Amino acid sequence: MTIVEKVNLTTGTGWGSGPCIGNTGSVPRLGIPNLCLQDGPNGVRFTDFVTHFPSGLAAGSTFNRGLIYLRGKALGREHKKKGVHIMLGPTIGPIGLKAAGGRNWEGFGADPYLQGIGGAVTVEGIQEEGVIATVRHLIGNEQEHFRQVGEWNVSDWLRLENSISSNIGDKEMHEVYLWPFADIVRAGAGSVMCSYNQVNNTYACENSYLLNYLLKEELGFQGFIMSDWGSQHTGVYSALAGLDMTMPGTIFNDWLGGKSYWGPQLTKAVYNQTLPQRRLDDMVIRILAPFFFCNNKGVPKENDNPNFSSWTYNSYGQQYPLQKYGSTVQQNWHKEARSKFSDQVALNIAREAVVLLKNKESNLPIARTNGIKKIFISGVAAGADPKGFNCKDQQCVNGVLTTGWGSATVNNPYIITPYEAISQKAKGQGMLVEFSTEAWKFDNVEELAANSDMSIVIVNANAGEGYIQVDNNYGDRNNFSLWHNGDELISRVSQRCRKTVVVVNSVGPVNMERWIEKESIVAVIFAAPLGQFVGQAIADVLFGDVNPSGKLPFTIARDDQHYVPLIDTLNGSRSPQDTFERGIHLDYRFFEKNQIEPRFEFGYGLSYTDFQFSDLRITEIKTPLKKLEQSNKYLPAIKLDENNVLDPKVALFPIGTIDPVPGFVYPYLHDRNLSSPNNNGGFDYPLGYKPDPVPRPPLAGGGAGGNPALWNLLYEIKASITNAGRYRGGFAVQMYIEFPKTPSSQPTKVLRGFDKVFLDPGEETQVKFNILQRDLSVWDVMQQGWIIQNGTYKVYISTTSRENKLYGLIQICC
Ligand code: NOJ
Repeated sequence: MTIVEKVNLTTGTGWGSGPCIGNTGSVPRLGIPNLCLQDGPNGVRFTDFVTHFPSGLAAGSTFNRGLIYLRGKALGREHKKKGVHIMLGPTIGPIGLKAAGGRNWEGFGADPYLQGIGGAVTVEGIQEEGVIATVRHLIGNEQEHFRQVGEWNVSDWLRLENSISSNIGDKEMHEVYLWPFADIVRAGAGSVMCSYNQVNNTYACENSYLLNYLLKEELGFQGFIMSDWGSQHTGVYSALAGLDMTMPGTIFNDWLGGKSYWGPQLTKAVYNQTLPQRRLDDMVIRILAPFFFCNNKGVPKENDNPNFSSWTYNSYGQQYPLQKYGSTVQQNWHKEARSKFSDQVALNIAREAVVLLKNKESNLPIARTNGIKKIFISGVAAGADPKGFNCKDQQCVNGVLTTGWGSATVNNPYIITPYEAISQKAKGQGMLVEFSTEAWKFDNVEELAANSDMSIVIVNANAGEGYIQVDNNYGDRNNFSLWHNGDELISRVSQRCRKTVVVVNSVGPVNMERWIEKESIVAVIFAAPLGQFVGQAIADVLFGDVNPSGKLPFTIARDDQHYVPLIDTLNGSRSPQDTFERGIHLDYRFFEKNQIEPRFEFGYGLSYTDFQFSDLRITEIKTPLKKLEQSNKYLPAIKLDENNVLDPKVALFPIGTIDPVPGFVYPYLHDRNLSSPNNNGGFDYPLGYKPDPVPRPPLAGGGAGGNPALWNLLYEIKASITNAGRYRGGFAVQMYIEFPKTPSSQPTKVLRGFDKVFLDPGEETQVKFNILQRDLSVWDVMQQGWIIQNGTYKVYISTTSRENKLYGLIQICC
């Protein structure tokens, strides 16, 4: 390939300069099309005839690895049918450090192990369907405030000089934030997206230590690193720091201006030898290898190319609608991407995601035989938003919640609201249904509540990505109260109705203290954003067609002070510093360490039936290594030829043969007289950049995901579980490991396994967990490696992160 052909693959053609949210240049000579990059993690964004899948957080709430994998497959299949080559998802960062963080609902939950498994099986599913997965965001994008300079022309944003810096210590970097990325690398992820924020005061997308060293060398990532949209800040420097693809190609806040840090600038940098050519070759190999791998037989056929436009829903229109340029062409083929398979997966996830938090005297499931003849349904979230349900990027929030807002949204093909679904069931049992979405004037509401046998209040709380603000929530939530006066509504209804059921449909934890213990609130359920099947899944659980089996993927605190606060004011500094003071004590680990009782802990969730546990068995398979040996095998590295830079003439803009589209990024040079920008002919290489493949990997590296020995199977854990109740049901059994007490900074207990089983009444089965070398390892900062400490490890079989049913000991010594 020529230099310009190579550069073309590394650089987006500019905002709106192609049908997808991101489009690379092409190499027609070799049949390589413009690669289509499209959001996102919950379905194909900006198009029709696609499934709106339940969110990542809902998938995490199922604690069902097999189902999460199927969701990945269904997502991949729909992206493929729409002609997407590179899907922008799954999201595993934010990890969920801040409960109010705007994008937590995109990921699987506030725990590295859960995010790692969720991310890895999703990647496998997507890529098996012939689409490259892009795991986002590396790393520390734990809040939306101040993620990008110039995002808002208001208050503090105007004074912002640099994006917020997430300052992450080495230990928590490895044990918490990077942990799930090791899993997705091992699963073969083709792409990783670096984030907007800075990491330890260097922008994530030009942080050589993060990209070159941690991701590529230590974790052995062999795919390509793509910038988030406008998160690139330098040209040569970011290239040397390990960035492989820039999106959307043009510069932030001048999206249509056609200026790029790469494109022609990258071509120039190679020709004038500021950037070693082998770095460019490396980028291209990293992009093409997953592309051929996922497309199985090499280059995609014509119908594997995009058949929709992100910029218009019309069937025909101008080729570049944002640029108002080009002739009229077909823009949308309205191709059906849904299937029975997608429907089933989406519905099953939605159902299994519903978490039962309270069920006093078994008031649920609802049945006429229990004396319930008249139901009153209330709350804004029970019905449809009067403005509809597909406002751009899901900004219409005055109704049922299917998603948060932002780039991870999908158009709903339809929604069956909770009101509709509950009414259907009620009708089937001959019940009466009253309904109100009044949120402020309570006379009528109180009267209806007083005259019903059971009231169901459906409330929500919403958040999303930082480029949209709703009601002054700039992505992140301003507080933990319910939206639309929900707390007041619950109080009013439950004052009048002795059997009030609360359904919280929310992007994260909400403060329940005002009402949770009230006698008249007989049942509470929590549901993360559930996609198009939201109403049906909630009604199925309320009426017992589905026995709830979801578990909370985060902790709900009694006191908002127990959550890590957002940095939402600048306080004098124009470069906000966000030092992750919680260290390794994410979510439930913090509560446990400080002996704080939460309202509902991570992993919590009730069932309509009872499960019993017995017979824990621990079998040693392999002796743990106290210290890892350095791996001699390095992942294959290609020695690239430095000396074939061609005459710049071949890179000149082919005037006359191309009709340049305004704002389009072309890779060509305009001048063949090139001089080195640096008189010494050299360049200051950033920390971690190594021009040659390293002969030996670091101690913690050597394979995909890190040192291969980290995946040694050390112990097999088995336990029996019996359904001792009256209903068939599923249960997510969790395994936690408690580390030896010293040193004191170790987490008290961490999740290291989960398995979901479905049992008929009286039925018994065995659950099995593997403990790998990495599961017992901690990061030793001094040695820069994973070690296993001497001492007693406790293995718990648990129903939640606090409630242990069985435990056994593993002794490791000397
Ligand atoms: C910015 C978001 O942070 C990222 O997740 C998304 O993929 C891009 N925008 C493209 O929409």
